[in-house]
Amino acid sequence: MGTEGHFFVIDAVISSVTPSFRRIALVDAMTEYLTFMPTADHKAVKALRNRLHERFWQEKKGFLRFRQPFESLLGIEAQYVDFTTDVVRIGKRSELGDEEFARVYAAMRDFMPWRKGPFEVFGIEIDAEWRSYRKWDRLLPVLPSLQGKVIADIGCNNGYYMFRMAAQQPAVVLGFEPFVQHFFAFTTLNALAGQENLHVEPFGVEDICLFPASFDLIFLMGIIYHRISPVEMLRDLKKAIRPGGTLIVESQAIPGEQPVALFPDKTYAKVPGTYFVPTASCLVNWLLRAGFSSVEIFSQHPMSQEEQRQTAWMTFESYTDFIDPDNPELTIEGYPAPWRVYVKATS
Ligand SMILES: C[S@@+](CC[C@H](N)C(=O)[O-])C[C@H]1O[C@@H](n2cnc3c(N)ncnc32)[C@H](O)[C@@H]1O
Repeated sequence: MGTEGHFFVIDAVISSVTPSFRRIALVDAMTEYLTFMPTADHKAVKALRNRLHERFWQEKKGFLRFRQPFESLLGIEAQYVDFTTDVVRIGKRSELGDEEFARVYAAMRDFMPWRKGPFEVFGIEIDAEWRSYRKWDRLLPVLPSLQGKVIADIGCNNGYYMFRMAAQQPAVVLGFEPFVQHFFAFTTLNALAGQENLHVEPFGVEDICLFPASFDLIFLMGIIYHRISPVEMLRDLKKAIRPGGTLIVESQAIPGEQPVALFPDKTYAKVPGTYFVPTASCLVNWLLRAGFSSVEIFSQHPMSQEEQRQTAWMTFESYTDFIDPDNPELTIEGYPAPWRVYVKATS
């Protein structure tokens, strides 16, 4: 299906749920967010967006699997939202009849496994693999005010942190999320929640060059150890941040004082696609050499099963399966067990 096909789907949906026109426009996202990013390459962003959306709206099983749950909920809008506590709450049970509630429940199950959370959606408690509020609580004390800010969340997943940001009224938050499951999970949650300043695009961090000097603040959390060229990526991110703006980096790390990075054979803690896992001081050096200033480590801690674990909404292996059962200081591959490190830097 081409871009026209995408709009055809939207048109069809509009005619079936006319009162929800505002939400449909939101779902379609368009690119109004670009008005907050005057220096971005608007033409290239729109062209890329059209190309990627064409892909995501294909009539193919791998895409329909997540698009259909999204479409099944069009027309349902939450009256109540609360993004100020550990649990992102969208809607109350009392807002829906039994049939609508059953539809929401089925759609939420279709988005399993839930990696980030927790959420409560019309009373459905979604306990995700990660207790993501722990990460948010570590960030909050060092964050600048988000009010009126233009923000990117790279690898935003289902948007848990974007909803937490929304509590502070940013001008716009653009989530970069190239995975179809997460893209539609956020799109669905926000069609329910109706936050017009939150947007997601199926972009990757590699597309950040289309946004020169566009953001006041970029979050790069859980990404850097997946990149084959972390310093090059940091340089590109620096160009996308307005002078004086902020980068928040959160990364898997190894313990140690020396500025070194572990480069695993194939997997690290069973995760493929892991390249450089730095110590905290190595991450600082990467940021300094990418041109950032005021680089500050504000938190670091060993990972634990308190923070990442199997739940009823994420039934696959989790942290304890990645760690040597006889020695919690080692991964299953025999590498140092993961820490997490948090750094704030100024562009
Ligand atoms: C480890 S998760 C981190 C999620 C979230 N940022 C957090 O800190 O909890 C990595 C996320 O990045 C997304 N991702 C994968 N490839 C990416 C890319 N090239 N650019 C941006 N994000 C990507 C994944 O789909 C996933 O949602």
